[in-house]
Amino acid sequence: MQEEKTYSPGLEGIIAARTAISFLDTEQEEIVIRGYNLLDLIQRAGYVEVVGLLLDQQIPDKQRQQEIEAEMVGSPVPDAIYAILRLLPSEMHAMDQLRTAVSALGGFDKEAGSTDPSSEKERAPRIIGQIAQMVANLTHVAQGREPQPFSPAYSFAENFLRVIVRREVSPPEVRAFEQSLIAYSEHELPNSTFAARVVASTLGDLYGALTAAVASLKGPLHGGANEAVMYMLLEAQNVEGMDKLIRQKLSRKERIMGFGHRVYMRRMDPRAQLLKEVLHQLIQAQGKGQEYLAMCQRGEDIMRSEKGLYPNLDYYAAPVYYLLGIPIELYTPIFFAARSAGLLAHIIEQHSENRLYRPRVLYTGPRGLQL
Ligand code: CMC
Repeated sequence: MQEEKTYSPGLEGIIAARTAISFLDTEQEEIVIRGYNLLDLIQRAGYVEVVGLLLDQQIPDKQRQQEIEAEMVGSPVPDAIYAILRLLPSEMHAMDQLRTAVSALGGFDKEAGSTDPSSEKERAPRIIGQIAQMVANLTHVAQGREPQPFSPAYSFAENFLRVIVRREVSPPEVRAFEQSLIAYSEHELPNSTFAARVVASTLGDLYGALTAAVASLKGPLHGGANEAVMYMLLEAQNVEGMDKLIRQKLSRKERIMGFGHRVYMRRMDPRAQLLKEVLHQLIQAQGKGQEYLAMCQRGEDIMRSEKGLYPNLDYYAAPVYYLLGIPIELYTPIFFAARSAGLLAHIIEQHSENRLYRPRVLYTGPRGLQL
């Protein structure tokens, strides 16, 4: 006899992994990343430091940071990957192009099939750097421009932003971008991380696990929300437009992208609060964009009073990326590039203490039919 009480739709509240990587402590309102508070990391650390923390389980010293960054910046993407991307229809969604590229990248890694955690850890900085370079060049390649590799003259974060926007970037712009990368770097067990761990648990390799995670992250209920938020802000045009648009959508029972979260459903995602501050600082540094903060604030107020819902990280990441001049189709790929650090940490952890994921079902179909 099947017990209905063991069934939790969407696995809500189910503990599906034992991990030392991260934890959303909703009681203490803290996102714990290997013992550190994610908000402290966003405010005070660099992205490469966080990559080191995720992979090495401790904050890397300066020498280790340099080693990691040199791998991330200095590992080129094979030309064949760009040749494959050029063959894809230019109107194909950037996340679908990225899914293809991440999968193909495995073909150029001699150790691709190895699920040995020490080999995976050694290769991880290179793979994170290659993914970022592929993401930074996606739109350029789709529009017929030559891809640009990262340069050892700049930090990882500066390289990533410069190659996307192809112009000089100011230190406050680089810092805002880097803070978004840290905010996106790791977040316990969202759908994409679960997907990666499920694939890894078959002793499938990390390219397979990462490819599954790209597919998962594309969905608008997950990473795809950040680009959807920007389209909503552009459609709204101004504060009054935002007011009208959100109320119309609510009256049509539509979901408002950038609001709600399985774990923080009735409270603010702490990352969103911090990205709101990053947006504010960027507006001050650039001397433009105040209207986006005002529109977001109006949306936030309406959603709180009408639905009791709060923004998530994607809500405030979208206008930050817009003000940096990043093409909208790259918002979710950037999320993936930043999250690749957390994903690799999870894949390595899964391979270190593996047990195959194989849940059961609550069967609702017929029985005993005769042929
Ligand atoms: N707009 C309007 N109503 C909402 C929203 C929203 N954004 N989010 C949840 N609700 C309502 C939903 O309609 C439901 O109402 P009712 O009980 O009356 O049917 C209730 O809240 C519970 O929603 P649910 O879908 O059962 O909850 P969930 O935990 O499965 O959903 C979520 C979580 C993130 C999928 C959902 O909040 C959502 O669709 N948000 C919009 C998409 C989004 O911003 N995604 C990014 C998530 S955070 C970053 C990331 O993971 O990428």
